[in-house]
Amino acid sequence: MLTVAVLISGGGSNLRALLDAAAESDFPARVVVVGADREADGFVHAQEYGIPTFTVPWSRATSREGWGAELGAQLAVWNPDLVVLSGLMRLLPADLVDEWSPRIINTHPAYLPEFPGAHGVRDALAAGVERTGASVIVVDHGVDSGPILAQERVPILPGDDEHALHERIKPVERRLLIDVVRRIATGALVLPSPAQ
Ligand code: GAR
Repeated sequence: MLTVAVLISGGGSNLRALLDAAAESDFPARVVVVGADREADGFVHAQEYGIPTFTVPWSRATSREGWGAELGAQLAVWNPDLVVLSGLMRLLPADLVDEWSPRIINTHPAYLPEFPGAHGVRDALAAGVERTGASVIVVDHGVDSGPILAQERVPILPGDDEHALHERIKPVERRLLIDVVRRIATGALVLPSPAQ
C-alpha cells in the first residue's frame, strides 16, 4: 500500500477526490496526513476521514529555507512514500526538493509547459488561446517545470471567466491525479528523476 502525504493551501477539492478514491477498498494508496501552509479550508476533508493534519504557517516564516525545513520535519514524521502538492501555493526550497524528488508530484491547471506559475488559469484566458488543460508533474527546482506524468486538454469556451474555466479544469485534474497515484502505487508508472 502506497502511503501519501497531501499538501494544500485552499479548499482542497482535489484532495477530496483523492480521499474519496483512496477510501475504495481496491485503491492501492492511502492518504496518511494532510499538511498546509495555513489553516486551510480543505482540512475539513481530512477531518471527515479521520486523517491527521498539520500546519506550517507561511505567515510566521522568516525565510523560505526555514519554512521548508519545518515542512520537511513534519513530512519526516509521517515518512510517506509519495508527497502530493494539491494546490499548495508555495515554491519549495531546493533542499526539500532534493530530499523528496522524484517522490513529490504537483497538479497544475494548465497544459504545461504552457502557463506555469500561480495563475495558470488566468494566464491562459489572458493569452486568448482556444484551449488549455491540466497536468500532473514531478516537482523539480523550477516553477512547474518537472517531468510531465499526465496531461489532458480542456477547451476554453466563449464567456469563460477564471472561475468557470478553473471549475471545468479541476475534474480533469482530479481524474489525472487519481490515475497517476494509482499507477505509481501499482508500479505501472515509475517516477522519472528530473534533469539536474
Ligand atoms: C488546483 O487547480 C491546483 O492544480 C492548483 O490549485 C488548485 C487547488 O484547488 N494549483 C496550482 O495552481 C499550483 N500552481 P483545490 O484546493 O480545490 O484542490
